[in-house]
Amino acid sequence: MGSTHFGFQNVDEKEKAGRVRGVFDAVASKYDVMNDLMSLGLHRAWKAYTVAVANVRDGDRVLDIAGGTGDLARAFSRRVGSRGVVVHTDINEAMLRTGRDRLLDEGLVLPTAICDAEHLPFAGGSFDVVSVAFGLRNMTHKEQALAEMARVLKPGGRLLVLEFSKVAKPLEKAYDWYSFQVLPRLGKWVANDADSYRYLAESIRMHPDQAALKGLMRAAGFGHVDVHNMAGGVVALHAGIRC
Ligand SMILES: C[S@@+](CC[C@H](N)C(=O)[O-])C[C@H]1O[C@@H](n2cnc3c(N)ncnc32)[C@H](O)[C@@H]1O
Repeated sequence: MGSTHFGFQNVDEKEKAGRVRGVFDAVASKYDVMNDLMSLGLHRAWKAYTVAVANVRDGDRVLDIAGGTGDLARAFSRRVGSRGVVVHTDINEAMLRTGRDRLLDEGLVLPTAICDAEHLPFAGGSFDVVSVAFGLRNMTHKEQALAEMARVLKPGGRLLVLEFSKVAKPLEKAYDWYSFQVLPRLGKWVANDADSYRYLAESIRMHPDQAALKGLMRAAGFGHVDVHNMAGGVVALHAGIRC
């Protein structure tokens, strides 16, 4: 076992998943309000764009990985119709439970499973579309998780990875100030938790940039990968086709 990063800290690989679990256990109840505050509501547009690019059709089978409080699962479920299915999954019980309860309150009942993206409990070729929004960054072995996503997709299936990415040079200074000065204070004020939001800012800096993630996806079996930058690269959507 080697070491890996948890934000800017070096930790033993075995420790990372537990540290990440601690973050999401702590933020689950305030996750949605913090998302709206931190992004000024922009995360809704980024997710809507992801759903549009996914082009999910009636009858499709969709797997949402690291689905958290269920924004993408909910949007996809409206598109697959009664013949399709959307499976809402996450490694973290608190996040998944919050999402499941929220969807149930809206009258939506989706199959839900606690699972680690690095070891998906689904047969090969089970899905037409796999999505992962703001989740890959937190995974210890990203290559392993991407290989699993490729495995469970049908040939020709689509993977949508929505994630924070590398901002354009002119935005760097302002983005750093916002990330390291504003975010932890906002986290402290709203969720009484500055550390989790400091981790968010740090983990974004440690995540592969647009070109590197595209390379990882190509290596995992996605023959064609399109990259869509949003908000000057604050976020990027990588859309891959499984060959
Ligand atoms: C920032 S939240 C994103 C939630 C949701 N997809 C959204 O966009 O609002 C990141 C999620 O990734 C999940 N996660 C982290 N590591 C994971 C893993 N190895 N397998 C599956 N989910 C994981 C966390 O539990 C958390 O719910």
